[in-house]
Amino acid sequence: MFTDDNHDDNQYLPIDDPNMFYYEMHGRKFSFLNESYLLPVDEDEIQRSDLLHRLIKFIFNGRIYCGPVRETLQFGDYRNVLDLGTGKGSWAVELSEEFCWVRVAGVDVVPIQFTEVPPRCRFEIWDINTYDMPYEDGHFDLIHARFVHEGIRDYPGFLRQVGRLLRPGGMVILIEPDLWQFADGKPEREFTFGSGPRAWFLIWETYRGCLSMLGIDTTVPQQFKRLLEETDLFDNINVHEGIIPVGFNHTEPTALTVGQLQWMAHDLLLPALKPMFVHLGILESRVDRMIQEAQRDLYSSDFELSSHLHIVWATRRSYDPLI
Ligand SMILES: C[S@@+](CC[C@H](N)C(=O)[O-])C[C@H]1O[C@@H](n2cnc3c(N)ncnc32)[C@H](O)[C@@H]1O
Repeated sequence: MFTDDNHDDNQYLPIDDPNMFYYEMHGRKFSFLNESYLLPVDEDEIQRSDLLHRLIKFIFNGRIYCGPVRETLQFGDYRNVLDLGTGKGSWAVELSEEFCWVRVAGVDVVPIQFTEVPPRCRFEIWDINTYDMPYEDGHFDLIHARFVHEGIRDYPGFLRQVGRLLRPGGMVILIEPDLWQFADGKPEREFTFGSGPRAWFLIWETYRGCLSMLGIDTTVPQQFKRLLEETDLFDNINVHEGIIPVGFNHTEPTALTVGQLQWMAHDLLLPALKPMFVHLGILESRVDRMIQEAQRDLYSSDFELSSHLHIVWATRRSYDPLI
């Protein structure tokens, strides 16, 4: 259990050999701690997360959060924030810089975080799939989990843990991409066989199939509201669906920037999927062909591609009906 007493000592991160956290497949690095997370955890993947971090800042008008974060974190010296699946830790560090009185902890299964951080920011290595996260009830004022649902096997259980760790009135922010894609403003299902960017849709269909084989519910982002409601632990559930353009054909400056960032992130995602697909039984030559053909759809301007982003914030209910 982590407490405020050991917080300042930084004594819970004795990483002698960082390589012990990784194994390699097809030239990419993966996490030992979360075997069902088959996206890489290496430089290219950090770059993809950086692009998405910048994208979020564009859609949030320069901020890294939505909802009443400022109100939630004001008053008092002992405000605590948790970033689950923190990656390199950009969100945790920037939040720490903006709210310098707040203690921010970022958690991940691999030690890829910044080594120089603001004084009240720290990182921890553990698997957030645990059914008992190592903090006391009500310890946190704000919990953030972004672009990590592919690594969470039981999302309803995860939300119950988040609810347990939040103080009454504390806030959760969840941000995840939709795993179904759009072309010319229409969803995949509206394209009849043979029409639309087939290779683009096929790679996403295959990705969803692989995640399902790994025990990941691919519909979680679309179901945020219901999942939060079913815990009976949250109020003020605010759900937003952002349409994210993909590519370079926009004239409005924000749409152009966001489209470029999403395009570059997708371009990095395609080769990152290869180890997962091969590991789960698809022939390597077929995977290479699928990726090349999907790249052709991504690089061509025959269709206007777009992705959707699910953004939700909610507050921890004061009265706990489970007790
Ligand atoms: C795509 S990155 C996103 C990083 C960060 N949240 C962001 O938005 O920039 C996903 C991160 O989640 C981590 N992750 C995946 N499953 C995890 C788990 N079960 N517990 C902790 N971290 C996990 C990965 O190691 C990776 O660093």
